[in-house]
Amino acid sequence: MKTILLIYKSNTGFTKKYVQWIQEELNCTTIELKDASISEVAKYDIVIFGGGIHANKINGMKFIKSNLGLFKSKHLIIFATGATPASAVEEVKRFEQENIPNESNIPFFYFPSGMNYEDMRINDKMIMNCLKFVLRVKKNKNSAEQGTMGAISNSYDNSKQILIKPLINYVRGLLA
Ligand SMILES: Cc1cc2nc3c(=O)[nH]c(=O)nc-3n(C[C@H](O)[C@H](O)[C@H](O)COP(=O)(O)O)c2cc1C
Repeated sequence: MKTILLIYKSNTGFTKKYVQWIQEELNCTTIELKDASISEVAKYDIVIFGGGIHANKINGMKFIKSNLGLFKSKHLIIFATGATPASAVEEVKRFEQENIPNESNIPFFYFPSGMNYEDMRINDKMIMNCLKFVLRVKKNKNSAEQGTMGAISNSYDNSKQILIKPLINYVRGLLA
């Protein structure tokens, strides 16, 4: 029987929510990135890593990138959560291209989430307020800028449990 470890980094709770849904389905061991160690990771056959998108970068990817040698002998799966809707396929493709190491063939899954200003760290709140201000005062906003304004204006949650299905099916395929 293959063993599964799910490691995650979640600042405002969206990735954690998806992690809890994945954990319910796969019944896997789950740890926060801050508690993850190489010696622990080495014990598992399948490692799933998840983090929120932060200015186009997946939170916590440094841990994965600096230990790629170890992951070569494992099945590694990465997922990200972000405010970008899943229908923005070009942007989601860019998240994959800019975050997943080239030619690594690591499967990547993207789950739309939202914004959570209530649980946001103060420095992130400041970044978002600056961005809101810049967009508000900008004249002749293009459609992408208008979309971003709408996506960051308030707290909302577009997370849906059903969206984890492709990842679950992929991992179950590894177990078969
Ligand atoms: C400072 C900041 C930057 C963000 N940048 C992006 C981004 O570039 N693209 C995106 O789709 N979502 C972005 N988001 C939204 C987060 O990716 C989204 O809320 C994510 O699910 C957070 O995950 P977490 O709560 O698990 O940390 C950003 C949020 C914050 C606070």
